[in-house]
Amino acid sequence: MDYDKKVVFITGGSSGIGLALAKEFAKRGAHLLLIARREQPLAEAKEQLRRLVKSSAQRIESVSLDVAKHEVVAKELSKWIKQLGVPDVVVNNAGFATPARFEEISYEDFRSVMDVNLGGTWNVLQAVVPEMKKRRSGQILNVSSVAGFVGVYGYTSYGASKSAVAHLSAALRSELKPHNVSVHVLFPPNTETPGFEEENKHKPAETHAIEAGDPILQPEQVARIAIKGLERGRFAIMAPYSSFIRFVNGVLPRLVHAVTDGSVRKAQKHQSKSA
Ligand SMILES: NC(=O)c1ccc[n+]([C@@H]2O[C@H](COP(=O)([O-])OP(=O)(O)OC[C@H]3O[C@@H](n4cnc5c(N)ncnc54)[C@H](OP(=O)(O)O)[C@@H]3O)[C@@H](O)[C@H]2O)c1
Repeated sequence: MDYDKKVVFITGGSSGIGLALAKEFAKRGAHLLLIARREQPLAEAKEQLRRLVKSSAQRIESVSLDVAKHEVVAKELSKWIKQLGVPDVVVNNAGFATPARFEEISYEDFRSVMDVNLGGTWNVLQAVVPEMKKRRSGQILNVSSVAGFVGVYGYTSYGASKSAVAHLSAALRSELKPHNVSVHVLFPPNTETPGFEEENKHKPAETHAIEAGDPILQPEQVARIAIKGLERGRFAIMAPYSSFIRFVNGVLPRLVHAVTDGSVRKAQKHQSKSA
């Protein structure tokens, strides 16, 4: 896919993996809307991105909002869709983790991680999907996590929010396929970002021990892997850092594809028979 002059919305685009993705899209000539809460990091991110653009006509914009707030997201994104057009790519990346043992996670902390990681993805999708469907094109990239794929000690609430993002993506993928809108899900491994640094302060000793020796990627590597996955039309996009992940990357998308496409075809056959 050629991203030149395409409109890309990225939640969490002011830091870490989101900012690295924004840089890749900026270099490829895309117009960008970065979405995050804090104004200062948004302004700094825009400065960095303006130095990378392919053309001075590229628009690098930002909006400060909390993705967990359903009505605010709907209102603001509809304004930005009027200004920049229906996005060609939407990246649902805003998220966080505060790892802890299950009984140490308060109900408020559980709600908060679900509201941002899952609810934020849901809110943005509700604002953009009808428009992308109407236009009959687009790519959606939802950011999950390796901890949303395998259960990891210390990540009960985070893992639940991220596996929900993966399953939301799989179901939405089959719904949007007939409308020419593709859905992809990224499963980053540990990646050196401000969010990861913060997360490390909360990790139980057992989590640190389990992760010891695991490679830690740079956000730029993750962004390149994500873009390559999008360009190749992969559903599940993972860093090829272990044979397990390679196995999952090869088999899971085909399984999901076979199951979802098979059921959609069956349902369509059934419908046309009874019509
Ligand atoms: N780094 C890793 O090791 C790793 C591994 C697997 C998955 N992930 C996932 O990858 C994504 C990015 O992680 P990262 O490490 O790059 O994080 P990061 O450096 O902390 O960046 C998070 C971004 O999301 C924004 N954000 C957070 N909460 C938000 C909210 N409620 N509304 C709007 N924006 C919000 C932040 O800006 P504001 O704070 O200003 O809002 C920031 O721009 C997350 O979904 C994370 O769970 C990360």
